Amino acid sequence: MLRLLPTLVLALSTTLCSGVAIFENVADLNALNVKFDFIVVGGGTAGNVVANRLSENSKYKVLVLEAGGSNAGVQNIIVPYFCPRATPDTAQDWNFTTTPQVGLGGRTVTYNRGFVLGGTSSVNYMVYARGSKDDFNRWAAVTGDSGWSWDSLLPYFKKNEIWTAPQDHHNTAGQFNPAVHGTSGINSVTLSGSPTPIDSRIIAATSQLNGDYPFNLDMNSGTPLGIGWQQLTIKNGERSSSATSYLAPQYLARPNLYVLLHARVTRVLPTTSGATPSVRTVEFVQGGSTQRLTLTATNEVILSAGSIGTPTILLHSGIGDSKTLTGLGIPSLKNLPSVGQNLTDHSLLFLSFLVNSTNTFEAATRNATLAAQQLAQWTASRTGPLVDNPISHLGWLRVPSNSTVFSANGVQDTSAGPNTPHFELLISNGMIPPPPPAGNFLSVLTAVVSPASRGSITISSSDPLAAPIINPNLLGSPVDVGIMREAVKSAVRFTTAPAWAGYVLSTVGLTGTSDAAIDAYVKANAGTIYHPVGTASMSPKGAQWGVVDPDLTVKGLTGLRIVDVSVAPFIPAAHTQASAYVIGERASDLIKVAFP
Ligand SMILES: Cc1cc2nc3c(=O)[nH]c(=O)nc-3n(C[C@H](O)[C@H](O)[C@H](O)COP(=O)(O)OP(=O)(O)OC[C@H]3O[C@@H](n4cnc5c(N)ncnc54)[C@H](O)[C@@H]3O)c2cc1C
Ligand SMILES: *[C@@H]1O[C@H](CO)[C@@H](O)[C@H](O)[C@H]1NC(C)=O
Ligand SMILES: *[C@@H]1O[C@H](CO)[C@@H](O)[C@H](O)[C@H]1NC(C)=O
Ligand SMILES: *[C@@H]1O[C@H](CO)[C@@H](O)[C@H](O)[C@H]1NC(C)=O
Ligand SMILES: *[C@@H]1O[C@H](CO)[C@@H](O)[C@H](O)[C@H]1NC(C)=O
Ligand SMILES: *[C@@H]1O[C@H](CO)[C@@H](O)[C@H](O)[C@H]1NC(C)=O
Repeated sequence: MLRLLPTLVLALSTTLCSGVAIFENVADLNALNVKFDFIVVGGGTAGNVVANRLSENSKYKVLVLEAGGSNAGVQNIIVPYFCPRATPDTAQDWNFTTTPQVGLGGRTVTYNRGFVLGGTSSVNYMVYARGSKDDFNRWAAVTGDSGWSWDSLLPYFKKNEIWTAPQDHHNTAGQFNPAVHGTSGINSVTLSGSPTPIDSRIIAATSQLNGDYPFNLDMNSGTPLGIGWQQLTIKNGERSSSATSYLAPQYLARPNLYVLLHARVTRVLPTTSGATPSVRTVEFVQGGSTQRLTLTATNEVILSAGSIGTPTILLHSGIGDSKTLTGLGIPSLKNLPSVGQNLTDHSLLFLSFLVNSTNTFEAATRNATLAAQQLAQWTASRTGPLVDNPISHLGWLRVPSNSTVFSANGVQDTSAGPNTPHFELLISNGMIPPPPPAGNFLSVLTAVVSPASRGSITISSSDPLAAPIINPNLLGSPVDVGIMREAVKSAVRFTTAPAWAGYVLSTVGLTGTSDAAIDAYVKANAGTIYHPVGTASMSPKGAQWGVVDPDLTVKGLTGLRIVDVSVAPFIPAAHTQASAYVIGERASDLIKVAFP
């Protein structure tokens, strides 16, 4: 098939050599007069997996509609160390803010989301952490579909992954377990490519303190407890996102794969009527115009707009709680009260310690000459400190077994099982928010990774272009406050290991380790690590709650499927991009089976 006329190709995009499948203007796409079999809404982490895997079948014509622009050439999303600059309030961010958070003393926090091809995988911190066996076995138990169990998903984790040697080619023996990784997948996973001066202290501390911080060779084996070397979605010293991997030039060269940028979907519309309507039509605006356009897929529309975007589109389409929607003037298409509910996220606390060293990240933060040298080194050879994110190691730990955090609140253990952490420690050779003018720091950030609180995504008007109301309910449950308190105590105790003697001098900000002092510090300083899930949850077929069946089709409708982390029924005790990728991989197989 002749793809495009050469003259049209020239008119298309500035990224010509990297592929002609990316369109900036809907008129150029319409000129081709293609009938699409599948329309993927959102070219984000999971959406690009689906687009890639479906377009493996040359009979399927696949279109991706992405609200944001190109990821190409944006330095802050390419250079790994610059990831904190990628969001918030940049051209690649949706610029969301939460409602006032009760658990944070009424503060609001930014709710960063990628507004760019690759979605949040283009702006995240690149940590690759899958979660525990228990986490995915709980998905299987709650959905009644063993296909979501750890054992069933492991081949899909591997299918996503191409294990890559770290950029400095150091000896990685004893830093990961090759047996649990994929070597022929698509998205690069690697180890840090530039050592930090604290690495040896961290590893030494894992055999101190009664073994309460045990070394874990590979936190992605399904048994994550302990402290280990972080793994990262980085390739050749650059971010590896779903845009750079699943939409790499060799895939964009497929004649049946099309991507339209600056295309913001406002609603999905019924294509047929009746008791079980088929919803295969998307309504969207493109390129800054307010004109509403439509396109209809022959087989399915796949919503991959993420945990905020997906429920927002559903609600504006009349798919949600019918009473609430009717009250807003939105005709009900399908009464599904769970849409937008059960939003689950991980709260995060920045916690730093003053250290007896000048060799921390602060050195370059305060010295423009050194910072310029580091960038010049990265530019010339993709080596040096900028090839990594600003984190060294991760720890995954449980509250002490005699803790009363659950019993005092009358709840069961919130974790998915005994091999699953309640909290995470993220260890960094400096301060990640801009540091004060003087001093050098160690950070041990803490995150509640098996939370009890649930929040919501709702809307307050019938205007699909209005921002949704985002309430992640961070630290909204006393259980989560209790877990965070244990996490802070654990972080402080970690820095008392003999390995840190003469190095860690004092805590910063935290005035004491009494429960009251910790709780006050947490309330004033905690935020989010941006892991929202659960707003379009899977549930068993026929359940009275939930949004999608275990095959990710929307309940009571046909032609509409959801493929992103909004379908997770529980948040994994991990970072969430690996879940987005594995959901995308399994969903692609489910769709291929449904449309042979
Ligand atoms: C600052 C930050 C740091 C993070 N760090 C990490 C980390 O280190 N490791 C990790 O594992 N996870 C991390 N995460 C979380 C992780 O990246 C996300 O959970 C994951 O990428 C979500 O994937 P998704 O496919 O569900 O959604 P997304 O990747 O967000 O994809 C949704 C896509 O849909 C598009 N879209 C939305 N609405 C519309 C619409 N109406 N029309 C058209 N397109 C639309 C969006 O622009 C986006 O491209 C981080 C997140 C943030 C914000
Ligand atoms: C977020 O703000 C930046 C900077 O003001 C802007 O360029 C970008 O377009 C905004 N994002 C959205 C989705 O409006
Ligand atoms: C929230 O999730 C739980 C399962 O964890 C489920 O029982 C409940 O019905 C859900 N609530 C809504 C409103 O969907
Ligand atoms: C800043 O960095 C440069 C380059 O490494 C170095 O020569 C200089 O001494 C540093 N300045 C200070 C004040 O440390
Ligand atoms: C739990 O046990 C530790 C010692 O192992 C002790 O220091 C702590 O006070 C105990 N906590 C509770 C709540 O009993
Ligand atoms: C700082 O470290 C040096 C050795 O590098 C040591 O001599 C000194 O005592 C340390 N200072 C403190 C306050 O521990």
